Parts: sequence; C-alpha cells; structure tokens
Amino acid sequence: MSSSAPNAVLSVSGIGKTYAQAVLSNIDLTLRRGEVLALTGENGAGKSTLSKIIGGLVTPTTGQMLFNGRAYAPGSRTQAEELGIRMVMQELNLLPTLSVAENLFLDNLPNHAGWISRKQLRGAAIEAMAQVGLDAIDPDTLVGELGIGHQQMVEIARNLIGDCHVLILDEPTAMLTAREVEMLFDQIARLQARGVSIIYISHRLEELARVAQRIAVLRDGNLVCVEPMANYNSEQLVNLMVGRELGEHIDMGVRKIGAPALTVKGLSRADKVLDVSFEVRAGEIFGISGLIGAGRTELLRLIYGADGADSGTVALGSPAKVVAIRSPVDAVRHGIALITEDRKGEGLLLTQSISANIALGNMPAISSAGLLNASDESALAQRQIDAMRIRSSSPDQLVSELSGGNQQKVVIGRWLERDCAVLLFDEPTRGIDVGAKFDIYALLGELTRQGKALVVVSSDLRELMLICDRIGVLSAGRLIETFERDTWTQDELLAAAFAGYQKRDALLDEAAPRDTL
Ligand SMILES: Nc1ncnc2c1ncn2[C@@H]1O[C@H](COP(=O)(O)OP(=O)(O)OP(=O)(O)O)[C@@H](O)[C@H]1O
Ligand SMILES: [Mg+2]
Repeated sequence: MSSSAPNAVLSVSGIGKTYAQAVLSNIDLTLRRGEVLALTGENGAGKSTLSKIIGGLVTPTTGQMLFNGRAYAPGSRTQAEELGIRMVMQELNLLPTLSVAENLFLDNLPNHAGWISRKQLRGAAIEAMAQVGLDAIDPDTLVGELGIGHQQMVEIARNLIGDCHVLILDEPTAMLTAREVEMLFDQIARLQARGVSIIYISHRLEELARVAQRIAVLRDGNLVCVEPMANYNSEQLVNLMVGRELGEHIDMGVRKIGAPALTVKGLSRADKVLDVSFEVRAGEIFGISGLIGAGRTELLRLIYGADGADSGTVALGSPAKVVAIRSPVDAVRHGIALITEDRKGEGLLLTQSISANIALGNMPAISSAGLLNASDESALAQRQIDAMRIRSSSPDQLVSELSGGNQQKVVIGRWLERDCAVLLFDEPTRGIDVGAKFDIYALLGELTRQGKALVVVSSDLRELMLICDRIGVLSAGRLIETFERDTWTQDELLAAAFAGYQKRDALLDEAAPRDTL
C-alpha cells in the first residue's frame, strides 16, 4: 500500500465502486498532511462518489483505505466525523425549518442537564459564523430564509466546528459570491496552516490553480493523473480534464435575428431593480452582466412574475403587447420560462426518473386526452439525454443517482422541450464541467435558431462574451449600458459594472455634503 509516502494522512488503494455499472475503478491516491489536493474531472466522472467513500457515506465495492497508518473503513458519516474526516457535500444538507444556530450544532447542542442553553447556542453560533465571515447574519434566522449562497456558507461553517483532520469540499463555491469565495480561501489557508488536509473539488480552473498544490483528475471513473499543480497551465488543464481540445471560440451557427420578442419597460422593485428597460429580439441572446447584488436575479424574477414589480411593464411579441404577469403560472402561460441555478428549489424530483422530471413541464407534448404516453415520455427524455450528453444508464434512472452537474442538465432539459418564446437563464452553467458547458452553449444556439429570445445572466464574463449578441450591464439596480457584439472589451464591461455604484455614491454625497473637502 502507498502509505509509505511521506506525510501521508489518508491513502486509498484499489478503491472501486459499482452500481449497475462501474463508476470508479481501482483508485490509488494519497493525501498528504496540510495539502490542498484539487480533484477534478467531467460531470459524472466519479468525484462525489470518491468523496462519499472517504466521508463514510458510500461503501466501496473494492479496495482499502488507511488513515494515519491505520485501516480505515467508516460505516457511516458519523464514524468518519468522529475521526475528524469531514465533508461539505455538493448538495446542501441543512434543515430549512431550523435556525442557523440549530443547524450548526445539530449533532451536539450545548445543553445543561438536558436543557439546551439558548444563550450558549447563540454565542457559539456567532463565533462559528464569524469564522466564515457571516457575522452579519442573526443565528436565529431560519435557514430556509437565507439565500442559497449563505446556506452553503452555513454548511461549511458546520463542518469547521470540532475536530477536523481531513476536509472534503465538494464544489463549495458553486453558489458563493466573490466575497464569500475569498472568505473561504482565507479559511482554507488557516486550516492548512493547522495541518488539515483538504480535498477540493471544483470545475473552476482558476480556483484550483489558486488554492491547490496538487491536482488529481478523474475521467470515467479512472484516475488519469496526480501531479503538482505547477506542472500545468490552464489550457493544459482543460485538455487534461476533458480529453479533447475546446479552444477559445464556439461557432453558434448561422442565426437570424428577427422582430422584438420581449420588451421590458421601466421595471422597478424597491431599491433592487430601478427603471430597467430593454428589448430582446427573436433569435437573439441578450446577456446580463453585473456584480453580485446588482439586481440580475431580481430582474429575471420580476419578468417571470416570481416577485411583483412596483412599476413597469413586460410586453411580448411584435408589435409589443403588454401582458399582465402576476405569477410564474402567468409567465409560463404566456411562453416565458425561467431556468434557475437552484436545483432543489426548481422542483427537481430527486426520487423520480429522468423522463418523469423532463416530462413534468411538458405534459401537453406527451399526453393525449389527459393520458400520459410512457413511450413518448421516454423518447422525449432520450432526446435530451443525447442532446446534452446527460450521463445516465437510461431515461428511467432516478435523478437522485445522477451526478450534480447532470442533475443541472435535467433542469435545463425540462424547459427546452417546452414551447416558450422567451427563455430566461440564471447562471445556466454553474457546476457544469468545461466540456459540458460547450454542449449547453450549442444548445442555446439551437434555441435561437428556433426563433426564441434568450436572456442569460452569468457571473462569467468570458461566457457572456462568447455567446451573446448584446450584453446589458446592471449596476446598483440600473441598466447602465448595453454593448453590441464586437464593440465590447472585458475592461469596459467591468467598468460599467462599477459605474452605477460610483454614481450612487456621488448622489448620496451631494444629498449630504461632508464637512471636509
Ligand atoms: N446511487 C447511485 N446509483 C447509481 N449510479 C450512481 C449513484 N450515485 C452515482 N452514480 C453514478 O456514478 C457516476 C459518478 O457520479 P458522481 O456524482 O461521483 O460524479 P461527479 O464527478 O461528482 O460529477 P459532477 O461534476 O456532475 O458533480 C455517475 O454516472 C452517476 O450517475
Ligand atoms: Mg459531484
């Protein structure tokens, strides 16, 4: 066994896992004390499965593990945690109806003769949250009321409480804002200095390069390399992960841009979205860029009727006809779809098959006189599985058995078959591997060729620059500037993203002039 490696904390050898098919084969890997080991690979490559084996959630079919030189075969997550091997899972694991504090200390509530001390709990929670920079959140808040990024931070904070020798972070930043990512990186550095070993899973190459010393790449359940991070530049990393060249460009195909399909006028809500107007034509991709909190998701939610606007109108078609959208049901009836980043909130039914989930939004297409046609349902699902390369054994496979990125593809697939003229995408490629991203771009191109109008919100500027015909920049709730394809540069887009805040600060200064100056 490879336990003889210097500073080995954990070593796995010959680890394999077989469900209906083999998903991991013969993995040999050693984790060193105080290192950050990046683990990467395509959606469905087996990253989460390997983590769950180490974290005690999944029993391997073959192989052994050693922890600090002793045989290690955890029977449960609790057993692994007792030894200080902890894991932040890709899917959130919190109880939404309990408070932040209760979620943090679920396993060991501070108590006195059987009574939970509220005050003690609160104090401990504040301390734990400060560690991850969440000191602004009241620990009595119910977790369900927090945004998804904050929930992720609570999950991370929970795992930093108590003894921790090995920490597995499975896509920890997929839902975090830039500031939260920085907090997490600070934490990682601190843990590392204490000798904690970390396995860091992510599809974001720039993060891996920043945080990890070594990189391990899985492809189809096999470990294809374990090497020092410094041996690779980002292009080589992509090739390594995907096993094919992707290049910087994508051909979105020949597209015809038609008449206006969506016309938004003066849309406002509180201080989040301020007087936003724009137009998207059939066959066009309109990107929305901006900093976190600029109002991008809020804007999409207003158009979709998920929140009510204070003022403004949404009109469809050409000539534009104003439609009353008071709820998502109205939106869907008018042919507007919203595809969000929140898989669970999106109503993905984990205990149902891929075909059932894809069919969910598409009843009219596969039922006649109210009867569901199972073979049509299957054919529909198979079409999406092929189009998006959803890694699965069949359309009947349960969604809960899919990897995280492949679940995301099912969410998208559900809407693609629907007859919607306007599709709103909020961070469509989060958690999706680099290769699959290009599949999704191709799919967006296909939608535009069908004459649909697309609005895409993304934090990834390069992504927007790659796929959009125009990019509007939101800043402090206002649509500051709109750029046409080929007239933008990354710097100009960034400058616009900040512009609204400077303007707002200037106005505030005017309203309340300072004594000095
Ligand atoms: N309980 C299960 N039953 C059957 N197959 C499963 C089960 N859990 C995972 N798989 C399969 O194992 C493979 C690896 O999944 P895993 O979640 O480890 O991938 P991943 O590398 O974490 O992908 P992602 O980047 O999308 O998160 C997938 O093809 C998945 O469908
Ligand atoms: Mg995963």
